[in-house]
Amino acid sequence: MSDQRESPPPEPVIVVGAGYVGLVTAAGLAELGHAVWVVDVEDERIQMLRDGRVPITEPGLTEAFQKHCEALHFETKLSDAIRASGARLVFVAVGTPTTRRDDSGGADLEFVDCVVQDLLCESGELALVMKSTVPPGTGNAIRENPAFREKDFAYVSCPEFLMEGEALKGVSNPDRVVIGRQEGCWAAAAVRDIHLALKPVPTIFETDIASAEMIKVVSNVMLAMRVSCANEVANVSEEVGADSSDVMYGVGLDARIGPEFLRPGAGFGGSCFAKDVKSFRAVAVAHDVTVHLPSAVLDSNEAQTERIVAKLQARIGSLETVPVAVLGLAFKPGTDDVRESPALRLATALRSAGAVVQGFDPDPGVRTKVVRHSRLAEPRDWLADREVYPTAQDAMTGVRACVVVTGWSDFASIDWRAAAQAMTGNLVLDCPGILDASRVSAAGLAYEGVGRASPGISQGVLGVG
Ligand code: UGA
Repeated sequence: MSDQRESPPPEPVIVVGAGYVGLVTAAGLAELGHAVWVVDVEDERIQMLRDGRVPITEPGLTEAFQKHCEALHFETKLSDAIRASGARLVFVAVGTPTTRRDDSGGADLEFVDCVVQDLLCESGELALVMKSTVPPGTGNAIRENPAFREKDFAYVSCPEFLMEGEALKGVSNPDRVVIGRQEGCWAAAAVRDIHLALKPVPTIFETDIASAEMIKVVSNVMLAMRVSCANEVANVSEEVGADSSDVMYGVGLDARIGPEFLRPGAGFGGSCFAKDVKSFRAVAVAHDVTVHLPSAVLDSNEAQTERIVAKLQARIGSLETVPVAVLGLAFKPGTDDVRESPALRLATALRSAGAVVQGFDPDPGVRTKVVRHSRLAEPRDWLADREVYPTAQDAMTGVRACVVVTGWSDFASIDWRAAAQAMTGNLVLDCPGILDASRVSAAGLAYEGVGRASPGISQGVLGVG
């Protein structure tokens, strides 16, 4: 793609959905000089944004919103945003969670449908630019809707590949931009122009709409597969006396494989991997295509939680009434997002085994989320107020074992001597492999990682202190 062309002046745009993808997209577009109207049906969220507060933890996002406060506008109705902005492009960044209406595992398109219905009440030169992750086939179905055709609206798929915790980098310097469109679509050219203004200009890959949708979902399936592969390799490594970090490093040196997303741990989490793997499987099933990999990836991920519980049981015995610290509750470090968090999955499994969970997360927002989350999520996705502690030391007080689940760098500086005093047992299980094992051992604690045989165990050092 050439970067020689004069870019047109940035046009006003609308972003529907003030969640992770929407807010980060809005910040990225404002940085490129666009006036951005952010629309969300949640009054409270829009009011917060109007008051200059950003409702999610994402590095640099609050600063970006402050920097571009004059270019950012907030509305609760799409119609108001269209009238106020005169924008042609409506970026859709609403949630598409796994449906709870049936057990298909497909994505729930309720919020997308609402936006489409709102758009159909409007007229003029308008385009729906889909950033939300939708099941392949969705874009063509929207385009074929007679009402959509009658309005002559354009449709472009421009899936988002941002990673929470480093999302702004994902919009300002993406690996690639995928544009799904029909040949000659004016809106696709406009979306391309927006991305051509990025410096450096990213690789822009244009294809048909269904292929763009597939690229998004399959990217997450592939990444989730790699993590599950790393977890299974780690589990086997422990048994054969190999060091899985060396194994995966060596494997990743193969240019065909590469080094990313091969870190084992407590299993993958977040709002996207499991959802998109299930959604891919549901699409396959709906089209009578037999696929084996999605189920294997999901089963492997669930099994990783069971393996951690089994490890604790192997060292401690029954977990009935045994207090266990769970350090790190966000689904990964650098975010306050607890959706599908491996730590919450583990907390549920520990509780089922009779253990008493003592959780902690360094992000102050997480506490509210894991507790407040209970209204929104499956019962397994919550912690009771009493299970969340204000400091890591508090969470470790009186426990027989401490499991680090989320790899926050803060945990590297835990005072292990003080922890050893406070704990009643001596097992420290470091799932993400972020602790300095020698410091933990020097405090008289028994360090165990994921993916390498523990000398402490074979020497029988572990157990109740
Ligand atoms: C993921 C994708 O990486 C993004 O490209 C995509 O845009 C996004 O989903 C989405 O569809 O919106 P994200 O959910 O933010 O991004 O999280 P990741 O950084 O991909 O991590 C997912 C999970 O895998 C986390 O629980 C993480 O701890 C785990 N993980 C990741 C590992 O266990 N090992 C690894 O080596 C890498």
